[in-house]
Formats: sequence, structure tokens, C-alpha cells
Amino acid sequence: MTIAIPDHILAIQPYVPGKPIEELQRELGLTDIVKLASNENPYGPGTRVLDAMRRALEDTWLYPDGSGHQLKRKLAAKLGVEPAQIIETLAKGWVGNMPPLGAALGTADDVKNVAQYVLSLSGGPHDSVRAALGKSKFGVCAACHGNDGKGNQAVGAPNLTDDNWLHGYGESVIVGMINNGKVNQMPAQADKLGPAQIQVLAAYVWSFSNKTAVAGK
Ligand code: HEC
Repeated sequence: MTIAIPDHILAIQPYVPGKPIEELQRELGLTDIVKLASNENPYGPGTRVLDAMRRALEDTWLYPDGSGHQLKRKLAAKLGVEPAQIIETLAKGWVGNMPPLGAALGTADDVKNVAQYVLSLSGGPHDSVRAALGKSKFGVCAACHGNDGKGNQAVGAPNLTDDNWLHGYGESVIVGMINNGKVNQMPAQADKLGPAQIQVLAAYVWSFSNKTAVAGK
């Protein structure tokens, strides 16, 4: 009997790990080997990781919750969104459209001032006199980015107060953004990825903007 294996399964390449320490010892007769390859570090897992793994081992006699209910709830709470929103963006894609606004703000100096205000929102180095002047013009931006600059998911306008920048950082980048605008499209992934893959990706995407580790349960 032949079993039909789908092409996408056949196409999966097995992971090729680095050479194990034992093999290197046998080959070269070395005793003192420090391994830095393949994401392995010479210190081993940290104590918090070991604790989390020990706790997880106690639950391995049960199947885990495949829908990741707790994970989604934690992500949503951390990001201040509904759990469905991260998944929806990945599945359906989105188009972000920021119009050129230099003229609406006024002179080149006005644009620079607003850029300085944006820098101040995210706690970056900025010229506080210019930032204060720019603040008075931020109303033009607030329509999409919100009065507090925290963004608006519905129109795809990003949070300007965090340290997460799609297009780079600094006065000249922000001035360019204001003067030229930006149309950016994220293609829909639903036809390429299954629901489970989208969930895993959602967790991965979330980790970009949250560099500090989330504590265990
Ligand atoms: C009509 C809605 C709209 C208005 C008004 C608007 N923006 Fe945006 N802005 C967006 C969108 C949408 C994006 C994301 C574009 C993308 O997906 O790349 C964006 C992106 C940005 C970015 C890049 C953020 C990053 O992560 O790199 C900056 C900076 C920015 N806007 C500043 C401003 C400033 C300053 C103003 C006011 C002068 C303003 N925006 C007005 C919609 C708007």
C-alpha cells in the first residue's frame, strides 16, 4: 500500500543542528569545549526558564489547549486590543495610508517642530522648545494617531509613543513621513496560512513590540 503524502509535507526540510559536543570530543580528542553555535549558549538555561519548564512538565500528561486561550488573553491584555484583532490583521491584511501633510502643517520649520514633538512622545532625544511649538500643530495628526499619539488600529495609524518604528527613527525620517506620506499594504495571509499558524505568528508578531519577557503563570 502506498501512502499519499502531500507536497507541502514532503517539502519540509529537517533542521540540521550544529555538531554535538560529544562528536567533537571524539573527533579531536578535546575535553574543554565551549559551544556557541545553533543558538546554544555556554551557560545553559536560566533558573527562571528551568523553573517554568519544571512547572510545565507537571502538566504534560494532559493535552495542551490548542486554541491558546490563555496566551491570547495575555497578549490582548498587554497590547490593549481584543484577541481577535491580532489574528484578524494577519488573516485579512491591511492597507495603511498616511497622506502627505507638510503643506497642511505650514512651513518647513513647522514640519520640523512637529517631528520634534513626535520624538518627545516616544521619549527620544529632542529639542524641547521645538517640540512645544510642534505640539500645537499635532491636531492635524491626531485625527489618525490620536490626541495622545497612541495610534488608531481602525485606520492602521501606528502608536508614535512606543519604541517600535516601521520606517526608522529620527527627525529626518519623520519629516520625510510628514512631507511624503506613505501607502503601505500588508497582504492577507489567510489563504497561505492555516488558523493555527496564524495564531503562532500572532504571538511572534507581538514579541517584536514587547522585548521584555512576560513572567510565567
Ligand atoms: C489620515 C490618517 C493619518 C494622518 C492624518 C497622519 N498619519 Fe501618520 N500614519 C498614518 C498611517 C496609516 C501610518 C502607517 C503607514 C504604514 O503602514 O506604513 C502612519 C505612519 C506614521 C509614522 C511612521 C511610524 C512608524 O512606525 O514608522 C509617523 C512618524 C507618522 N505617521 C507621523 C505623523 C504625523 C507627525 C502626522 C501629522 C502631521 C501624521 N502622522 C498624520 C496615518 C496618518
